[in-house]
Amino acid sequence: MIKKFLLKLSFIVFLLVNSVFAQSKINPDSIKTKMQWFADAKLGIFIHWGIYSVKGIDESWSFYNKKISHSDYMAQLKGFTASKYNPEEWAALIKESGAKYAVMTTKHHDGVALWNTKQKHYSMVKNSPAKRDLLTPFYAALDKQGIKKGAYFSLIDWSYPDYPGFTKDSTRYKVSDDPARWQRFLSFNQAQIDEVNKTFKPDLWWFDGDWEHSAEEWKTPSIRQNILKIKPEAILNGRLQGYGDYDTPEQNFPVTRPKFNWWELCMTINNNWGYQPQDTAWKTPYEIIAIFADAISNGGNMLLDIGPKEDGTIPEQEVHVLKELGKWNKKHAEAIFSTVGGLPQGHFYGPTTLSKDSTVLYLFLPGKVAGNIMVKGLKNTIKTIRVVGTSRKLEPKVVGKISWSPIPGLVFINVPEDVQDEYMTVLALELDKPLSLYQGQGGLK
Ligand code: GLC
Repeated sequence: MIKKFLLKLSFIVFLLVNSVFAQSKINPDSIKTKMQWFADAKLGIFIHWGIYSVKGIDESWSFYNKKISHSDYMAQLKGFTASKYNPEEWAALIKESGAKYAVMTTKHHDGVALWNTKQKHYSMVKNSPAKRDLLTPFYAALDKQGIKKGAYFSLIDWSYPDYPGFTKDSTRYKVSDDPARWQRFLSFNQAQIDEVNKTFKPDLWWFDGDWEHSAEEWKTPSIRQNILKIKPEAILNGRLQGYGDYDTPEQNFPVTRPKFNWWELCMTINNNWGYQPQDTAWKTPYEIIAIFADAISNGGNMLLDIGPKEDGTIPEQEVHVLKELGKWNKKHAEAIFSTVGGLPQGHFYGPTTLSKDSTVLYLFLPGKVAGNIMVKGLKNTIKTIRVVGTSRKLEPKVVGKISWSPIPGLVFINVPEDVQDEYMTVLALELDKPLSLYQGQGGLK
């Protein structure tokens, strides 16, 4: 009896130590190193490609919300051809946009795998006329372009017979009522994650749907461990009930700087993730650029979504946005990539970034600003002001500097109309030494 108890106790202690160890594996120094490419990347392209593009309806949610029956939804499999799919062209477009990583839906909440899964479940290979693995050639094309590979993977699988959730008002069972059935689902799901991990070795995992179960139920610590066992440097997004590496605000724009070390705004170009021809609420290239500049100014990334059609063509409005964004990124690369978030609010009316050593301050001028712009609280001396991507230089004028006061004057910079970028002009202020700011309330302090 006592022996049994001791055995049990030591097992529990073993489990506890193990899980603490698992968490402490997220050591702050090594995570910083691991996250560096992501922090420098700034831009990723999200791809929602699935059978929902056949009818042009909400990805998975359309049957969950009962806008369409599950069988009619799944019948879209028969219309998914990928007949014009050109992964090299996709990768080239992603490269042209300036993005450094791409995240592809390997499986959405509808459960349809885009690769040749060995598990007994839907796949484009077995169940659609596309009849092939869509991920292998895409990830190979990304590799060729030097773009990091991201795998979106939905933890939720509303089509799997052992998954509890099905539609908004029908559930197959409760986990607590049938833990063995839930375990069958978990084993299946983990097997699919392992397949993707072993076959494609994603640099980044973009999990989704964690809200339906707790970390304990999903076993997210072991999902994390299993991935890192095979690829220790992989980055995991935050939708793992506390076991991810970075935060993922979705469609909503932070106003104050998020507190997380790493975050990524995921956003659609119109209002939907997948291809929906009736949705013509296209954001313009300028709007996308303004949002992107705002995200990087606040230390974040942007993951911009495209929704290809069932045949693999990308809607022309999305191609247009990616190309225009790419043009702007190319011209202003030094102000965007490998920079860090800029000035705290209050110093400049617009987004800013800083070189890593904080000796170059980049000012983004939204809305075709010309005339005098103002920077407050800059203690540094400005050595030079360059209009990024051009050979033009501008002059600062410091006003209101009182000789006896340590508080810096205001910097005005006159921006002539003829230096304006077609979308957003960026100025580089080269400073005498690393950035130093005055953040007081005026007066004598
Ligand atoms: C949400 C939705 C999903 C979409 C994802 C992208 O979690 O459930 O449909 O793929 O956001 O961020």
